[in-house]
Amino acid sequence: MTIAIGSDHAGFPLKQVVKLWLEEHGYEVDDLGTYDTKSVDYPDYAAAVAHAVAEGKADRGILICGTGIGMSMSANKVPGIRAALCTDVYTARMSRRHNDANVLCMGARVIGPGVAESIVEAWLSEEFEGGRHARRVGKINALDEECP
Ligand code: RB5
Repeated sequence: MTIAIGSDHAGFPLKQVVKLWLEEHGYEVDDLGTYDTKSVDYPDYAAAVAHAVAEGKADRGILICGTGIGMSMSANKVPGIRAALCTDVYTARMSRRHNDANVLCMGARVIGPGVAESIVEAWLSEEFEGGRHARRVGKINALDEECP
């Protein structure tokens, strides 16, 4: 599985931790930046990762900024993206089972590296349950068509 990963300056240190964890666990990682702690704008990296997932260049995406909020807001603007901001293992699991999230967002100023690794592990191990949730996710996806 290929994971596109991105962060802004605030998320950069945690991105490095998550990237290493992914590589050590056998995932192919496409690191789309940023590559240091120099101040940048999070929507640029959210767009890069979201487009990589939406266009099928990556199977999933992971985005990290200070809170995870700006990344999730930005990524969810891209048609086909269902980005979930997760601060704990439960929401990470449910974002896969019920929402079929294809992008995980985390806040480096909110959670530490240990929690982040647990979230990533849970998020990547869960499958979408389908059934009634497929109907609801279909309605999320239909909202993409409302944009002219
Ligand atoms: C950067 O200071 C901060 O605003 C950004 O990382 C993120 O938290 C935005 O949502």
